[in-house]
Amino acid sequence: MTTVLITGANRGIGLEFVRQYAIAGASILACCRNPSAAKDLNALAEEFDTIQIHALDVASDASVHALRENLGATPIDILINNAGVMGGKHQGLHDISFDAWSDCFNTNTFGPFRMIAAFANNVAASEEKKVATISSYMGSIGRKGKGAYIYRSAKAAANMITTLAATELADKGVIAVPMHPGWVQTDMGGSGADITPQESTSGLRKVIAGLTPESSGRFWNYDGAELEW
Ligand SMILES: NC(=O)c1ccc[n+]([C@@H]2O[C@H](COP(=O)([O-])OP(=O)(O)OC[C@H]3O[C@@H](n4cnc5c(N)ncnc54)[C@H](OP(=O)(O)O)[C@@H]3O)[C@@H](O)[C@H]2O)c1
Repeated sequence: MTTVLITGANRGIGLEFVRQYAIAGASILACCRNPSAAKDLNALAEEFDTIQIHALDVASDASVHALRENLGATPIDILINNAGVMGGKHQGLHDISFDAWSDCFNTNTFGPFRMIAAFANNVAASEEKKVATISSYMGSIGRKGKGAYIYRSAKAAANMITTLAATELADKGVIAVPMHPGWVQTDMGGSGADITPQESTSGLRKVIAGLTPESSGRFWNYDGAELEW
């Protein structure tokens, strides 16, 4: 049975990943900061006994370490680094919050780094050996965006660490990719976004299912298109 670990699994795209992989028959390690408050996730776990809920704050070394101790050598077929934050309102050249910038890097960049470092051997010990970091096209330097200095730089750095890991772990057979989920109707994306979490996640799952060693270290859109850095 395929085992999928998902961070930020209590709402938005993360929760939808849990739902879709559970329906597909996978075993899910659904990780979130506050399991007792995760109403929708707990309801899904009532429905599917293949969902195990774990406490995890990706911004905390101690929390990631505790999860690693708890999971031991469990093989992880697909590690999905989904947890993320926007970085607050003060993201302009003349209106910046360095505290928020630091917090955003701690979650959006150090978070995936901590998870890949902690679970690289678990992924390498699995059948599928895949790591997907849910990044953003807003982190593309080639796209020439405007503003959102905090979020864009944290996602650009998340792209870098995921591709570095792809190169470093290639000899263990691990495939690692940053992915853009589209502009999605979640708390983060807002209700006016282009697509539903269902559309985004089914696209992302299809791309993940088709990943090969040749696709590793490249930046993929949820619809299967390759994105510029
Ligand atoms: N929605 C979009 O349009 C869009 C576009 C491009 C990229 N993305 C990326 O897609 C991913 C999911 O976004 P979303 O739209 O589903 O956002 P969301 O609805 O705001 O959900 C964010 C999730 O991340 C979790 N999280 C935040 N900080 C965490 C931490 N330190 N440790 C563990 N979990 C943490 C949240 O948990 P709590 O409930 O505990 O806060 C929540 O489960 C993010 O990485 C985001 O940057 C989204």
